[in-house]
Amino acid sequence: MTPPGAARIVVSRRIPEPALELLHAAGDVWLSPHDRPMTTAELHAAIAGADAVVTLLHDRVDDAFLDAAGPGLRVVANVAVGYDNIDVPACARRGVIATNTPGVLVDATADIAMALILMSTRRLGEAERMVRQGGTWSWSMFFMLGSGLQGKTLGIVGLGQIGGATARRARAFGMRIAYAGRRRADAGVEAELDATMLDLDELLATADVVSIHTPLSAETRHLIDARRLGLMKPTAHLVNTSRGPVVDEAALAAALRDGTIAGAGLDVFEHEPAIEPALLELENAVLLPHLGSATIETRTAMGVLAAENVTAVLAGQPPPTPIR
Ligand code: DGY
Repeated sequence: MTPPGAARIVVSRRIPEPALELLHAAGDVWLSPHDRPMTTAELHAAIAGADAVVTLLHDRVDDAFLDAAGPGLRVVANVAVGYDNIDVPACARRGVIATNTPGVLVDATADIAMALILMSTRRLGEAERMVRQGGTWSWSMFFMLGSGLQGKTLGIVGLGQIGGATARRARAFGMRIAYAGRRRADAGVEAELDATMLDLDELLATADVVSIHTPLSAETRHLIDARRLGLMKPTAHLVNTSRGPVVDEAALAAALRDGTIAGAGLDVFEHEPAIEPALLELENAVLLPHLGSATIETRTAMGVLAAENVTAVLAGQPPPTPIR
């Protein structure tokens, strides 16, 4: 039984049980009954009068959301490290604390980036599809050859935590590391990875594999467009595990079709969950349904961290991971 006056906590979609338990201990929890993103109208109706809202990456937190919640809203806890769905300045203007879940999904996401690097360069998606479709094959010296990673250059766009963890994995596969980004990485990280900073265009022109780890913002939307794809080597592969709109998906499909680049591995899409139809037709595109953080351990840690952010704010304490 929730005591009268308990905080009203809205959770926009089911999250792991240990996270819900923490929230139940902190207030009166309303959990969406839908196993899908709520419509804007459903979400706005559900959050009226909320003190805290736990959001997922598909929920838009903007002025209309904040109006719908009302003046009692204290915290929006996004269960994701990416927060392009949240208008952070709008939250700040109203004194609403916005939080995300950095750190806990670094390894899981870097694992998927490395998996996509291997799948794309070794043609594993194409090979698996061929076998399942009953294709005719036999071992030969020239059958379905991919390209090796040893001695090749991985170009990391955004050498943050996930970019760094991907680079560490790639080093174990014998790759050299270059990176581009808004600022220089710590000297210690550069030294550990033996990483060279390049400007983005130079990185694209020289890397054998490019892996994107930059957050989505007005500056990074379509950062990888037709012109930049045109700079890449015809033998190069592009991997994206950050946010779909960082890549112009139609331009990427054209680049893959025309042989401008050799392959791509994508875990995220510009209009998720819709995928550019041309990509679905291409053998040299490996397409995953946004699985970067999709392990039981990681999703539990994300949910628990979001719940800890809520409970801290409701208790009048600073949250562990505010968006700054
Ligand atoms: C995130 O946390 O931003 C990821 O995209 C979720 O998988």
